[in-house]
Amino acid sequence: MSIAFADKQIVLGVTGSIAAYKACEIASRLTEEGAVVIPALTRAAREFVAPLSFEAITGRPAITDIFAPIANPEIEHIAVARRAHLFLIAPASANILAKAACGIADDWLSTTLLATHAPVLFAPAMNAAMYAHPATQANIATLLARGAHFVGPGEGRLACGETGPGRLIETPVILEAACILLSGKKDLAGRRVLITSGATHEPIDPVRFIGNRSSGKMGRALALEALRRGAEVTVVSGPARVPLPHAAKVLSVRTAQEMIEATLAHVDAADIFIAAAAVADYRVEHPADEKHKRNGDALNLTLCPNPDIAAAVSARKRPEQVTVGFAAETHDLLAYAQRKLEKKKLDLIVANQVGGENCAFGADTAWAWLITPGAPPEQLHLITKEELTERVFDKIASILRTRNT
Ligand code: PMT
Repeated sequence: MSIAFADKQIVLGVTGSIAAYKACEIASRLTEEGAVVIPALTRAAREFVAPLSFEAITGRPAITDIFAPIANPEIEHIAVARRAHLFLIAPASANILAKAACGIADDWLSTTLLATHAPVLFAPAMNAAMYAHPATQANIATLLARGAHFVGPGEGRLACGETGPGRLIETPVILEAACILLSGKKDLAGRRVLITSGATHEPIDPVRFIGNRSSGKMGRALALEALRRGAEVTVVSGPARVPLPHAAKVLSVRTAQEMIEATLAHVDAADIFIAAAAVADYRVEHPADEKHKRNGDALNLTLCPNPDIAAAVSARKRPEQVTVGFAAETHDLLAYAQRKLEKKKLDLIVANQVGGENCAFGADTAWAWLITPGAPPEQLHLITKEELTERVFDKIASILRTRNT
């Protein structure tokens, strides 16, 4: 269950495409995340997939007919149009795009689309030539100009045997786009956020490295929350286990040296810098060109310190820029975090406890405190990374407000 989707009413419009069966997975994931999914199938969609599948998955009646539901206020089109938080049309056929662009209202879905003020997200799926056709492209341009949103299509082999753009984009990407649209708080619109995320791998030889257990979950949650609030997001990411949001610009790096180079190349353009990466403090001074061979003797490696990225950013920071760091410690967390806040001249540090099953590394939760200069630490207790990042950006927004920027 995610707080972004909890109790949100989402109309899932399914239209006539071979990809209609994939809408079952979308309905299932949205329901799992806590959304109230209202499935609506066009006549053509019902040639590919049965309404009963959606009813079983969502536990709600599937809407199929503009006239049938008049007796049922739950699915009456104007009532649904008013209470929906989002219209997600997936798959969106060339036909529904054309109808929506022209304002044609000849079935439940196209009629309700005209009546809603909720954000509308189309996930197109069709033959590549149909997608590339000037009529379809003109319809997409019209809908974009009117404020509709699009995710995908993906590229690849299509059901018709052709290759090109036209595949329904993967479900996680659709969910992510929906999650971004569901946020009402757009207090970072026009702001640029730069985040370091994940681990760094410091080579020992061509096959071995010194690394750590950062999964990238914290960086992903930060990037998603910043996108939800309307920011433009760039992530300098070391190796990680989870993918970053599709809508973020990602700069992939491996070592601390690569991470500092990418960060310093982009930080001047950022309004907010967040150092969430677990950067290796040391690297091997002379990594071997060839794989070390085992010969029974001890292997001594000389380690030299890596540059401190957060400190380097603070050294060149503009007065209005907000810099945020993280501290993950096994003991004396608050004392160490306080010291890092001062030493790295940060505006905010998020202290998270390492140890136990809710340990900061790799977990979905953290025991966290927020610390700002001159104020007592704010304890958040055990919190999901999703909730934590919401609190972090609330704090950042309040810092920005006090600076009147
Ligand atoms: O990726 P996850 O599995 O979700 O885990 C998230 C996390 C535990 C990695 C994250 O929440 C976290 O706490 N990151 C900081 C880890 C840490 O202990 O950092 P540090 O104490 O070594 O450094 C303090 C701060 O300076 C951090 O903001 C760090 O990014 C930054 N730093 C550190 C060293 C260095 N050479 N350059 C830096 O910028």
